[in-house]
Amino acid sequence: MRRYHAGPDFLRAHSIAELAHMARRRLPHFAWEYLEGGAEEELTLRRNRQAFAEVSLLPRTLVPWETPDTRRTLFGREQALPMAIAPTGYNGMLHRDADVHLARAATERGLPFSLSTVSTSSMEQIVAAVPDVNLWFQLYSMTDPKVQEDLLQRAEAVGCKTLLLTTDAVLLGNREWDKRNFARPRQLSLRNKLDVLRHPRWIKQALWPHGMPSMANLDRYLPADQRNAAGAAHFIGEKMEKHLSWDFLARLRERWPHRLLLKGVMHPQDAEHAVKLGLDGIVVTNHGGRQLDGVPATLDCLPAIVEVARGKLSIILDSGIRRGTDILKACALGADAVLLGRATLYGVAVGGQAGAGHALDLLSNELRLALTLLGQPDLNQLRASRQPDATFSVS
Ligand SMILES: Cc1cc2nc3c(=O)[nH]c(=O)nc-3n(C[C@H](O)[C@H](O)[C@H](O)COP(=O)(O)O)c2cc1C
Repeated sequence: MRRYHAGPDFLRAHSIAELAHMARRRLPHFAWEYLEGGAEEELTLRRNRQAFAEVSLLPRTLVPWETPDTRRTLFGREQALPMAIAPTGYNGMLHRDADVHLARAATERGLPFSLSTVSTSSMEQIVAAVPDVNLWFQLYSMTDPKVQEDLLQRAEAVGCKTLLLTTDAVLLGNREWDKRNFARPRQLSLRNKLDVLRHPRWIKQALWPHGMPSMANLDRYLPADQRNAAGAAHFIGEKMEKHLSWDFLARLRERWPHRLLLKGVMHPQDAEHAVKLGLDGIVVTNHGGRQLDGVPATLDCLPAIVEVARGKLSIILDSGIRRGTDILKACALGADAVLLGRATLYGVAVGGQAGAGHALDLLSNELRLALTLLGQPDLNQLRASRQPDATFSVS
């Protein structure tokens, strides 16, 4: 019998949801929950998706056909698409060298790649493997000023020009699955150890031959015998700065002469504050529903933020992007670009670089198709209008 699609399995995924389904089968339970889970009741996780569903698209008809134009200029650079890969920690648990795979997939498409402080490849490894990467570095601030300064100097030394300070995760959200899956910090429960044994393909893909990866950016700050997942988790728990403030951000603004973005904005007054501090951008995010459960969807917060900050800094939105139409809606409501968290992680989990690339291509094809069917081929000309029931319609 002829197969519909030759090549690796993941290329048969026609949507991000199908990639997620494949990732769920591929990963052991604890790794899947780490990737997919939200905090507590997962109210915010669901709201993130629901908010996109509530924006309707109102097409115009008989518009002469034009190739859709999805270009956006972000920080002075023209990109083919209004998106970048979000910083996500501990990606090596999904696939060996996952950060490098994500960076390559993004770079091949001219998109920025964000590396987390708690990544499993170091910034030096990323730049060595992908020299033309447009690298954004996400900073979790550290209590030890020497470590903090060293991270900044290393970012500058590898040519990183964009720093994202994450401020919505000074304490880890209440993720019950995490507590359930581990008997002790970084020690899987017996049930999860047995489940791992049922996933030989994942063992080969992620664990073999070195075991659980360490947090490579932080290795050099740890004693030699603690350069492993458990050591890094302990270090982060002890050394992450929990007392962030606007004064701290003002000092960081003085210290970092390149682009500085605040990742963790939901309130318009915080966006105004970021403008006053002379930041280059904000990320409107709820950390993909993984931190404070019950906060609104980011898309619902966007209009009020756009009202106070549009044109004064770049407004980037994340949390819940799973379709090209989601990107279209975010841009119509005033986002300059979006960050992709789980969408590209599903891809990397099932197919490394090619899988991440497939996720990016699915989203960009969906975005182009939607612009054409909407009768508005230019992403920059999209308009959103508020309906009597307070929802938005985009044309
Ligand atoms: C597995 C996972 C790990 C994450 N790790 C980080 C991190 O280390 N630093 C950070 O700023 N945000 C982190 N985030 C949040 C993402 O940057 C982004 O805000 C979020 O994933 C967007 O939501 P989405 O996954 O629905 O697209 C993480 C998200 C996930 C799913």
